Amino acid sequence: MSYIPSESRYDSMLYNRCGRTGLKISALSLGLWHNFGGVDIFENGRAIIRAAFDAGITHFDLANNYGPPPGSAEENFGAILKKDFGGFLRDELIISTKAGYGMWPGPYGEWGSRKYLLSSLDQSLKRMGLEYVDIFYHHRPDPDTPLEETMGALDRAVRSGKALYVGLSNYTAEQTRQAAAILKSLGTPCIIHQPRYSMFDRWVEGGLLDVLEQEGIGCIPFSPLAQGMLTNRYLHGIPADSRAAKPHGFLKTEMITEHRLAQIKALHEIAHSRGQSLSQMAIAWLLKDKRITTILIGVSSVGQLNDNLNSLQNLSFDADTLRKIEEILGWQTMG
Ligand SMILES: NC(=O)c1ccc[n+]([C@@H]2O[C@H](COP(=O)([O-])OP(=O)(O)OC[C@H]3O[C@@H](n4cnc5c(N)ncnc54)[C@H](OP(=O)(O)O)[C@@H]3O)[C@@H](O)[C@H]2O)c1
Repeated sequence: MSYIPSESRYDSMLYNRCGRTGLKISALSLGLWHNFGGVDIFENGRAIIRAAFDAGITHFDLANNYGPPPGSAEENFGAILKKDFGGFLRDELIISTKAGYGMWPGPYGEWGSRKYLLSSLDQSLKRMGLEYVDIFYHHRPDPDTPLEETMGALDRAVRSGKALYVGLSNYTAEQTRQAAAILKSLGTPCIIHQPRYSMFDRWVEGGLLDVLEQEGIGCIPFSPLAQGMLTNRYLHGIPADSRAAKPHGFLKTEMITEHRLAQIKALHEIAHSRGQSLSQMAIAWLLKDKRITTILIGVSSVGQLNDNLNSLQNLSFDADTLRKIEEILGWQTMG
C-alpha cells in the first residue's frame, strides 16, 4: 500500500538543537543496528520506519556493517526510501551512516584510513540509493592511523557533497577534543558524538559530556535501554523472540545477571509509580541532561516504538526519585 505520511507528524515531537549548530533533531532517533537486516522481516522494519516518521522522528541512524549480513540494513532502508519516501520527503529526513568496523576483507575494509572511509561512504550511498547522507561518522577511533588522516577524510566527504555534517562515535573525551580541533581547523566542525550511554553504562559522565558542551557538539546516546535490559522485556525470563535469544544479537544472556534483574525490577517499580514504563523512564532520565540532543533507540516492533515515544509525556524528575534511582544504580554486585 502506498504511504501517505501523517499530516500531524510534527505536532507532538520535541526538536533539540544539535550542539551549537543550526541542525535540530527529533528528541528520539531510530537506529537500524538490529531488526532491519537481511535476516529480519522487511515489512516489519518498513512499518516501524513509517510509524516513526509519522510520529515526528526525523533521524534514522545506520552504519555500513548493520545487518546481518553487513550492508543489508542499508539496502533495506534504501528500498524503503524508494517505496515510501520519494519526492521531497528526502529533505525532511536526517540520515546517518558510519564506517570504522570491519566491512570487507583486506587492509582497506576497516578502521580509519582515508582509503577505507571514502570507499565505504561510496558503498553506503549506493546501497541506500542516496546522493548524500546528512551525517557521516567515524565509528570508532583507530589507534594506528593519524587522526589528521581520518579527520581529513571526513572533511573530504563533506567537501565532495557526499555528507552534510560529520560526527564521531566511541571516541574518548581526550580523543574527541583532539579530533574536534582538527576538524575545526579544516572548516568542517564535528557536530555530534555517538557514545553508549544508559542508566547501566555511564562512562560519558566522566568527562566526555563536558568536552561536548565546551566544543558545542551534540550528543546522541546509543543503546539507551541497554539493548532491552532497561525495559519490561526480561522481567519474567528470556522471550524466544528477544535480542538476547537471537544468535546474532549483541545482547548475551550472560549479561542479564541476577544482580541486573534485581536492579531492573526495582527501577520498574519507580517507573510504575511515575505512571511510566521502565523504557520510558530510562529515556526520560537521559533527556533530563540538556547536553543530550536525541536518544538513539532500537525497536523490534511498532508497539515498542509507541511505548518509547510516550516517554516525552513525562520528562521531569523530582530530587527524591533521582536519589532513589542513584541508590539502585549504585547497588554493589551480589556474590
Ligand atoms: N555507534 C555505535 O558504536 C553503536 C553501537 C550500538 C548501537 N548503535 C546505534 O544505536 C541504536 C540503538 O541501539 P540499541 O538497539 O542497542 O538500543 P536500545 O534502545 O538500548 O535497545 C533496543 C532493544 O530494546 C528492546 N526494546 C526497545 N524498546 C522497548 C520497549 N518499549 N519495550 C520492550 N523492549 C524494548 C528491543 O529488544 P528486542 O529486540 O528484544 O525486542 C530493542 O531491539 C542502534 O540501532 C544503532 O543505530 C550505535
